[in-house]
Parts: sequence; structure tokens; C-alpha cells
Amino acid sequence: MSMIVSLQAPRLILSGGGAVSKVAEVLEQLGLSRPLVVTDPWMVSSGTAERVLDPLRAAGMVPGLFHETVPDPTDTVVEAGVRAFRAGDYDCLIGFGGGSPMDTAKAIAILAAAPEGVHIRAFKAPAQANRGAVPVIGIPTTAGTGSEATRFTVITDTANNEKMLIAGLGALPLAAIVDHALTWTVPARTVADTGVDSLTHALEAFVSRRANPFSDDYARLAMRLIAPNLRRAYADARSGGAGGRDEAAREAMMRGAMLAGLAFSNASVALVHGMSRPIGAHFHVPHGLSNAMLLPAVTRFGLSSALPRYAEAARIMGLADEEEGDQSAATRLVEELEALNRDLSVPTPASHGIAADRWDGLLETMAAQALASGSPANNPRVPDTAEIVDLYREVYGR
Ligand SMILES: NC(=O)c1ccc[n+]([C@@H]2O[C@H](COP(=O)([O-])OP(=O)(O)OC[C@H]3O[C@@H](n4cnc5c(N)ncnc54)[C@H](O)[C@@H]3O)[C@@H](O)[C@H]2O)c1
Ligand SMILES: [Fe+2]
Repeated sequence: MSMIVSLQAPRLILSGGGAVSKVAEVLEQLGLSRPLVVTDPWMVSSGTAERVLDPLRAAGMVPGLFHETVPDPTDTVVEAGVRAFRAGDYDCLIGFGGGSPMDTAKAIAILAAAPEGVHIRAFKAPAQANRGAVPVIGIPTTAGTGSEATRFTVITDTANNEKMLIAGLGALPLAAIVDHALTWTVPARTVADTGVDSLTHALEAFVSRRANPFSDDYARLAMRLIAPNLRRAYADARSGGAGGRDEAAREAMMRGAMLAGLAFSNASVALVHGMSRPIGAHFHVPHGLSNAMLLPAVTRFGLSSALPRYAEAARIMGLADEEEGDQSAATRLVEELEALNRDLSVPTPASHGIAADRWDGLLETMAAQALASGSPANNPRVPDTAEIVDLYREVYGR
């Protein structure tokens, strides 16, 4: 029997250096003219928000501005955003920034389509969030979450400190503008963290039980772009541009992040993300950094359940040649993920300053939240609660 495959993707993706200057043209093409720009305080105080606001105003539009997003955006921020949205006469939302502003814009669209009084947690997966009040345009400034091309938004429930996964077409941007020139100012630490997030998306999509031929091809493209350029982008950020910018590496990372977003949006993420969200929620570790803390151990855990897939990933990433056997190639992948963490100065939870008693006290809660998110069920090797607890113990680094 042939397989029925679906591909969900933005209607328009504009990619390349300087693409953000075309934001008004993109809106006009889509028949939109009254945007509310959703971003974070730094984007405004640094003047970066003008990169979007200027071209909109030059085209005669009067964009609104909501700039109260926080990292790991919360239900309360989304509610404030819905109030700002309802206070104006907007026909679209532009999420401008890292994953946090883009996810906030998506959640505002979803919540604003619901009757007043509904809480955003009503849309938590496995519910489907297919309706948005207005279209969302995603413009990333990190490389990155790929949120500009995914049907997901991740919102923290402040009642119980849970990072909720919300999925559906209501969260999928109508258009994405992918401009690596927006990433020059990203701090080196964040370049590393967001880059590992992209690599994790591509790898988890590739080994996911829900992978399909479309997501596979996007994952391959993404791994090919990200693997040779992540260390280069980090070095470039650390140098601060002294001696010239590594534009090729930054552009590859930005495009790779977006393609990795398309990959995991259509295949789902797996155990790394399932275990990463509770770490972010309880300890406020940046999302990509908590992924990095988990990636080598979780990959080793699943290796034998999808050996050919992990081996192909290793070959795509240039870690093994075609002749090398699967076992050996897959082992090289784990070694490379460990080396990458060393080269990117990724701490363990312990060396990041998380106290052992707090970590141990939350092991069962985090494992339960990881399992409840559904992501671990997509892993090649599906863990039970005890195995997740063991993995959390293993990565702690005491
Ligand atoms: N929706 C999805 O598909 C998806 C996928 C992965 C992650 N996420 C979510 O995205 C969020 C993380 O996003 P993120 O890692 O991009 O971080 P972020 O958006 O939280 O930003 C992190 C920090 O970097 C700063 N920053 C962003 N761009 C900058 C720039 N160009 N120059 C200087 N500083 C800049 C921000 O101001 C902020 O202080 C998490 O909440 C995560 O759960 C969502
Ligand atoms: Fe992620």
C-alpha cells in the first residue's frame, strides 16, 4: 500500500541577506496592510525593531507594536498580547525576534480566535490548534528555532511551570522572512545554543517514528548546512567580526535552521525535546542549551533502535564515509555530539549552577512532564519513566 504523506509549510518564504527590507512587499502580496509587530524589549531598546517598522512605515502602513515578550513566553504574556491585538484593528501579526517573539505571535493568533475567557492551555497538544484570528508572518533573528516554518508554538503555563507544546495550522506562519543579516548581533552563547537547537531539530526529525519522505529530505538538507557551519558561526560570533565576517557560515545556519523547522514540523521532535522542555520550565535554561546538555546521552540511548538512520546522519554530517559500517558510523555521531559540546563550551546542569537537591527533587516531575508532552513516543527507542529519570541523572554531571 502506498503511503499518504502531508507537507505543511508557509505559503511564502523569502530568504537571503537584506530580505527583511521587503517586509511591506510581502504583506502587500498577501493582501495584508495592518500588522501588529510582536517582539521583545531588547529588539526595541537596541533599535533592531526598526528593521521591520521602517519599511512598513515607508510603505504607508501604521504598524502596532507589542514588545513585552519574555524568553520562554508565558500564558500571561500571550493574554497581554491578545489585549493589545483586540485594542487595535490588525489584519496580521509579525513575530520578530528569536523563537520567543515568534511563538508569542502564534499564540496570540490562536487565542484571539477563541471566545473570550478561554485559556491558552485549552490548545495544549494533543488538542489541535488549527485556527488563528489572523495570519502570522515569522521573521527570525536567531538561527534558530525554525519557528518561522513550524506548526508549533511553545508557551509556559505559569500555574504549574509547564512548557506546553501547542500544535496545528493556526501556529503555522503564512509567510517567513529569513534574513541572516539580522543575526550579527546575537551573542556567541546564543549562537551556539540556537545552532544546537537547529541541529537537534534536524536529527530528531530524521530519526523520528513520524518521519516521512518530505521531512527526511528537509532534515538531510538541514544537517548538510548546519554540521559544517555551527562551529564556524560560533567562532565568528566570538570574534565579533574582527577580521571580517563569516557570512557564508551565518547564511548556511539561518537557512539550515529554517529547513530543520520544516523537517521537524512535519515529523515531530522526539526525546531530546521532550526532556528539554521541563528543564527550561523549572530552571530557565535557554532552550538550545538544555537540548545540548541532553543530545549526546539521548542519542546514545536510542542508537541501536535506529542504527541505519543515525549512521546515515553521520555520513550526511561528514563524520563517516559511505564504506563505513552503520555501527561505526553511528558511534562517530555520538562522539561528534560530545566534541561539539566541548567546543561550544556547553555546561552540564551541575556546572550551569543547578543544585543537586533541586535537580533530584524534580526528576519524577520532569520525567512525567516529558512523557505527557508526547514527544518521547516519537523516539526510535521509546523510554519509560524510569529510563527518563536515569537519563536525567546521567546528564546532570555531578
Ligand atoms: N515554535 C517552535 O517550533 C519552536 C522550536 C524551537 C524552540 N522554540 C521556542 O523558542 C524559544 C527560544 O527561542 P530562541 O532560542 O530563538 O531565543 P529567544 O527568542 O528567547 O531569545 C533569546 C535572547 O536572544 C536575544 N536575541 C534574539 N535575537 C537577537 C539578535 N539578533 N541580536 C541580539 N540578541 C538577540 C533576545 O532578545 C533574548 O534575550 C523557546 O521558548 C523555545 O521553546 C519554539
Ligand atoms: Fe527546539
